[in-house]
Amino acid sequence: MKIVQVSASKNYEVIIDKDLLPKSGGYIRERAGGRIAVIITDDIVDELYSDTVIKSLEDNEYNVLKYVVKNGESSKNSENYIRILEYLALHKVSRSDVLVALGGGVVGDLTGFVAATYLRGVKFVQIPTTLLAAVDSSVGGKTAIDLEAGKNLVGAFYQPQVVLCDYNTLNTLTEEVFSDGCAEVIKYGVIASEELFEACSQGIKENIENIIYECVKIKRDIVAQDEFDTGLRQLLNFGHTIGHGIEACSNYEVTHGKAVAIGMILITKASVKLGICEKIVLDRLEKLIKLCALPFDTHYGVSELYQVMLSDKKVDGKMINLVVPTTIGKAILKRVSIDEMKDILNKCFENGGIL
Ligand code: GLY
Repeated sequence: MKIVQVSASKNYEVIIDKDLLPKSGGYIRERAGGRIAVIITDDIVDELYSDTVIKSLEDNEYNVLKYVVKNGESSKNSENYIRILEYLALHKVSRSDVLVALGGGVVGDLTGFVAATYLRGVKFVQIPTTLLAAVDSSVGGKTAIDLEAGKNLVGAFYQPQVVLCDYNTLNTLTEEVFSDGCAEVIKYGVIASEELFEACSQGIKENIENIIYECVKIKRDIVAQDEFDTGLRQLLNFGHTIGHGIEACSNYEVTHGKAVAIGMILITKASVKLGICEKIVLDRLEKLIKLCALPFDTHYGVSELYQVMLSDKKVDGKMINLVVPTTIGKAILKRVSIDEMKDILNKCFENGGIL
């Protein structure tokens, strides 16, 4: 077992271990209390893990309710958000009760936003069941739903009571969903730790407890300094600006991790072209991305990506903060105008993207 202590507007632990689900009720009782526990999950995770969590919650004297959404990004919408609020109100869930987000990033973000706003805030717990949620979205308190106009455009910073990361749950992920999370792991290596980057080359699955632990520690350190995402935390967006563009262009057919992988490659190419990092950084990144069975190229062109990127919430007036690596293990924020952004994108695609 490994524990990371997060210090933010709420202090809480991220507990990383195998076989946590059967003990989840005890942790939730200690850290959240309450009479009713409402599990919010998706249809795939529900089949696999709800019964174990329900039993543990009931063993710890909770009345358990469950709300199931369809698996996938399209569930992170305003209709589901309102339906869940109505469900909670109908069942008289009170401020002293607790919501349990059991699932990946979609379930965590949606549940977190419901928790942040229902009765002006109720307690919630994150139980991530994907690698992406384990290393990134369950930690740090970003909660959100999507709008037609773009991803995560409505949300709140709202920290959970505890994050229970049972990495046994990763065994039931498809290779594709596991790879998706690898993109976020690689991100942490590039922006903050060459050691982590190297450990990934030895195999992420083989060393999963340590890798999750290292990623969560990096995120903890960043969130402690910039919980509300006004500066340093933006480093966690490495690959995400172009990545969100690719996701939007594909109508979310290209998954988040794949889009981020392509985004990391493109922005690193630009970084080489701009003389910010050496080509070896790009070569090492490409090698690791291939090893993790992630894509590194896109058929979308500059004009398509540029248009959708303009609606990204990271665009602030006519400026955008890009995250560019200087080496493996370090990245900086580079503030550019959206016109410069277009030039940078053009540079990434020059000569068919070959440097
Ligand atoms: N996923 C990026 C962040 O939490 O800031």
